[in-house]
Amino acid sequence: MRNHRTFAPGFQTGCFFIFIIMNKTIVIYGSSTGTCEAIAEKIAQKLGCEVINVQDLTADVVTNNQNLILGTSTWGAGELQDDWYDGLKVLQGADLSGKTIALFGCGDCSTYSDTFVGGIGELYNGIKASGARFVGAVETDGYTFDDSEAVVDGKFIGLPLDDINEDDKTDTRIEAWIAAISPNL
Ligand SMILES: Cc1cc2nc3c(=O)[nH]c(=O)nc-3n(C[C@H](O)[C@H](O)[C@H](O)COP(=O)(O)O)c2cc1C
Repeated sequence: MRNHRTFAPGFQTGCFFIFIIMNKTIVIYGSSTGTCEAIAEKIAQKLGCEVINVQDLTADVVTNNQNLILGTSTWGAGELQDDWYDGLKVLQGADLSGKTIALFGCGDCSTYSDTFVGGIGELYNGIKASGARFVGAVETDGYTFDDSEAVVDGKFIGLPLDDINEDDKTDTRIEAWIAAISPNL
């Protein structure tokens, strides 16, 4: 005889509701010319979650989401996309302990080979001591670059994408990354 418990429907619905709240995921991106924005929308569509511009990031957004998928393009010499400077302050002022964070970013491994996707590294460095759990590190194999602040302990700390030189690899890289992070969300 199978030994299982049956819960009242109201209890089950309540648990499901709490589960949804506790595991809410949001994609937050900073983008100057639209590349990272398009990638963020693609990632959010595949995860079935909300996506916002970092310009709209508030403390409430952080509080209301368990999983934060953060994306930045890289500007200057390995620097954050401009709008992320304010966004980073919001994250630094919030309680990120217990949150799950995955990082992604876009750059140009040919023209900016020495600072490839450095913005991902900047984002990580700004919040690495927050108590959040970081998921979604990516092997450097398959990427051609000289140096990157986004490489931590031999791996990219998030997903690097280069839509300028390697746009044919973007979809495959996103698919593999989402498959890797999904069990953690
Ligand atoms: C002035 C300038 C500086 C850049 N610096 C870097 C860099 O240091 N590292 C990098 O990987 N990409 C760099 N890039 C490439 C951008 O990150 C890339 O074009 C990106 O796709 C822009 O995304 P966005 O339109 O979402 O802002 C730079 C581009 C420009 C025009």
